[in-house]
Amino acid sequence: MVSIPEYYEGKNVLLTGATGFLGKVLLEKLLRSCPKVNSVYVLVRQKAGQTSQEQMEEILSSKLFDRLRDENPDFREKIAAINSELTHSKLALSEEDKEVIVDSTNIIFHCAATVQFNENLRDAVQLNVIATQQLILLAQQMKNLEVFMQVSTAYAYCNRKHIDEVVYPPPVDPKKLVDSLEWMDDGDRPNTYIYTKALAEYVVQQEGAKLNVAIVRPSIVGASWKEPFPRWIDNFNGPSGLFIAAGKGILRTMRASNNALADLVPVDVVVNTSLAAAWYSGVNRPRNIMVYNCTTGSTNPFHWGEVEYHVISTFKRNPLEQAFRHHKAPAFLYDIYLRMTGRSPRMMKTITHLHKAMVFLEYFTSNSWVWNTDNVNMLMNQLNPEDKKTSNIDVRQLHWAEYIENCCMGTKKYVLNEEISGLPAARKHFNKLRNIHYGFNTILVILIWHIFIARSQMARNIWYFVVSLCYKFLSYFRASKTMRY
Ligand SMILES: NC(=O)c1ccc[n+]([C@@H]2O[C@H](COP(=O)([O-])OP(=O)(O)OC[C@H]3O[C@@H](n4cnc5c(N)ncnc54)[C@H](OP(=O)(O)O)[C@@H]3O)[C@@H](O)[C@H]2O)c1
Repeated sequence: MVSIPEYYEGKNVLLTGATGFLGKVLLEKLLRSCPKVNSVYVLVRQKAGQTSQEQMEEILSSKLFDRLRDENPDFREKIAAINSELTHSKLALSEEDKEVIVDSTNIIFHCAATVQFNENLRDAVQLNVIATQQLILLAQQMKNLEVFMQVSTAYAYCNRKHIDEVVYPPPVDPKKLVDSLEWMDDGDRPNTYIYTKALAEYVVQQEGAKLNVAIVRPSIVGASWKEPFPRWIDNFNGPSGLFIAAGKGILRTMRASNNALADLVPVDVVVNTSLAAAWYSGVNRPRNIMVYNCTTGSTNPFHWGEVEYHVISTFKRNPLEQAFRHHKAPAFLYDIYLRMTGRSPRMMKTITHLHKAMVFLEYFTSNSWVWNTDNVNMLMNQLNPEDKKTSNIDVRQLHWAEYIENCCMGTKKYVLNEEISGLPAARKHFNKLRNIHYGFNTILVILIWHIFIARSQMARNIWYFVVSLCYKFLSYFRASKTMRY
């Protein structure tokens, strides 16, 4: 079998979601480890004040691409940024762009999606289901397409406890749901994300039946483990937002079951699995759709209780800058102060927002699933020794304590842009806050007790009893000390 870089040699790859967390890492890795790939078409939607080319320029100039820039300074020539709004009719592609894509695309990676758990159902269906359908229609017109790779989620069938590497029947017929958008109001339905991702899998399986389809299902994607360098992460989504909140002191408790499996998977493992899975399908043309549960729980289990321990211990040693202790009362008072000084209150809003995020995550931090990973293991065994090294997908080697520490330090450095040189000042600030917090709590307890004593005879009796007991103990201690002299 040809190696992974040999397979991608001379190929034209189409990538959606290249401006997102996973898409960026995939683009970097593809260009670095397969330098002879012919071109990569990235479908990017225009944003206010920035063309798709400008957006890509900004991304390609970022630190994530430093290593690639060193190894292959001309890599930008291979990237063609194409304007495309996936939720518009025919993906809003111009006729010329469509022609180029249809004529020359060999491999598609469909990464774009809305990953907000509480996205309204209409928008989630529009992007996660209908846009996928449109992309499949386009794929069917392509003259040289070899593989359609759908990036899904391991939680697409979280209603099951044991999840095999197959596409299960959808929760509802996607066609009926799409039709119902005509009359349905938006409503407020939690976790439309997972619901629509399950529908997308079904759409890909049914409507892409004539294509060579593969699906990669990552669980919760975390910072990079090794590539292009350890610790890289650039978003607040999922647990990284909670880690930051814990580090900043906004979040003091987390709803989770200590023994529930924390199925985190490094972003570079997801990218390597996706590139290898497309390689396998392209070379072997399997008769059935290939599904890969890109997870860690069954091969290298780790639990939420352990995550909590390592996050707290990392941020104790390496506090975040401007951390503040979370207490609703000071937050509330600070908001009043902001209001009085003509600024808009934000503390209570932030805390409420985080608690909402925690409620959404609670389902995942309190339950465990078992994912079958036979296809991932098969894929690993198919890689030649060189590909095994350059496209590592073996999560058995992942050292969790080190990885969680790296996730925390990655959020500090790349999401919050805090430098390691600021650590001594952050530690000093952290200790000061801890003392303020203890002081505040002590005053609060004394105040409450004082009010209690003033109002209740029983409280007074208990208080006198405790004070006289202490006095007796002290007198006894003093007397026994004098006798010894
Ligand atoms: N992150 C995770 O923990 C995780 C876990 C399991 C599976 N996944 C899957 O991995 C894939 C990538 O996720 P991610 O974490 O990288 O998400 P992300 O950072 O939010 O990126 C989403 C990407 O989709 C693009 N996009 C959204 N709406 C679009 C539209 N209307 N037209 C064109 N492009 C649009 C975004 O472009 P803009 O920059 O213009 O917004 C962005 O590039 C998704 O399929 C997701 O379901 C992610």
